[in-house]
Amino acid sequence: MREQEKVFKDPVHGYIYVHDPLIWDLINTREMQRLRRIRQLGTAYLTYPGGEHSRFAHSLGVYEVIRQVISHFERNGYGWPAEDRRLAYAAGLLHDIGHAPFSHALESVLLTQHEQWSEQIIRHPETEVHQVLADVAPDFPALVSDVIGKRYPGRIIVSLVSSQLDGDRLDYLMRDAVMTGVDYGRFDLPRIVRILVPKHDRLVARQSGQHTVEAYLLARYFMYWQVYFHPVCRAAEVLLRNLLERAKHLVRCGEREISPFSALNRLLAGGYGVADYLAVDDSLLLAAMHSWRDHPDGVLADLSRRLIDRHLPKYFELQAPLSQDRLSAVVDLVRTAGFDPAYYCTVDEIGTVYYDYYLGAQTGTHGDGLFLWDETSGALTEMSQVSEPIRAMAQETKRKVRRIYLPEEVAGDPRLSLQLNRWIRP
Ligand code: NI
Repeated sequence: MREQEKVFKDPVHGYIYVHDPLIWDLINTREMQRLRRIRQLGTAYLTYPGGEHSRFAHSLGVYEVIRQVISHFERNGYGWPAEDRRLAYAAGLLHDIGHAPFSHALESVLLTQHEQWSEQIIRHPETEVHQVLADVAPDFPALVSDVIGKRYPGRIIVSLVSSQLDGDRLDYLMRDAVMTGVDYGRFDLPRIVRILVPKHDRLVARQSGQHTVEAYLLARYFMYWQVYFHPVCRAAEVLLRNLLERAKHLVRCGEREISPFSALNRLLAGGYGVADYLAVDDSLLLAAMHSWRDHPDGVLADLSRRLIDRHLPKYFELQAPLSQDRLSAVVDLVRTAGFDPAYYCTVDEIGTVYYDYYLGAQTGTHGDGLFLWDETSGALTEMSQVSEPIRAMAQETKRKVRRIYLPEEVAGDPRLSLQLNRWIRP
């Protein structure tokens, strides 16, 4: 029975095939199953009702993209280290194993990074993923962790898991587009797989696939503005972050038993280990918020009700950073309306960091640009050198979005909003 092919039905890839018993065993570990209870897009489902898909589905998808790319290399006789196939599969499947609930909000409150947790969970002798990996070879967990941490010497394996055209991005962009219904975020994934070639120890695209890569980069650009940077998606993220900051503040002021869940309480208190981290998922956090609706702390109770009932903060777009004077004036307005500005007045700046690579690719500082391979001359050319649309997009990196988020009661007050508009618009 164990040798039988396993198949998952999937809205992005049609089918996901598992032949290797190692992959099947990894899928069935409790750490992988936990990812079923973590939404891929955090709070974006409050904006896009379809965006409810899990990190689990995404992780299977990353494995499947890597499986397809490797199969394409092998069928076409491209030189590639076949003995590392399992390593690439395992690293792709497990790359998000350390994700915190609700995408990135909790990470920023705990000042931690999921990439480091992924490695820690893989290396920790008591986790099931570690035990399954260690059955392959005692050093196998460390190798998988090295691929995820980009320290593994075989660069081609690393770039299958993280680079400009890696399994991770190819799956999440396409999956997020399909699930949210943002159609212009889709691209021709099967053709991307077919134009990839391992050259000079990195993943590059055949020159003939230039337009396919352009379409992919444009899709990615749309997804950033339509989903990841969407003002209402960010509003929910800002609200959740402020709520968790308040909970953390109360715990650190002495309320150790803030929620019915000891693992979450320890996370917020700051002294926690792998087991506590893994015990917390979206459902647990939502249950904690339900319990906080009636919490004696008015701020925590109010923010929890706002998130659960979807009363998201309203935003004003800032054309330039607010001067200290004006910011203080807004803070005063918020306070006068009866809200604590620390939790009800948030300036959110996004933009450049996500687009770093376009500029990096252009200036050559990043070393991680997207390259086209000329089949005749064998030359590699960085994408923005030959593509007008990509050059234009690189210009876009200079765009930075700043928004100020305020409670509806403040933002909606005609007198205040008139004043705010005067200050906020240039
Ligand atoms: Ni991922």
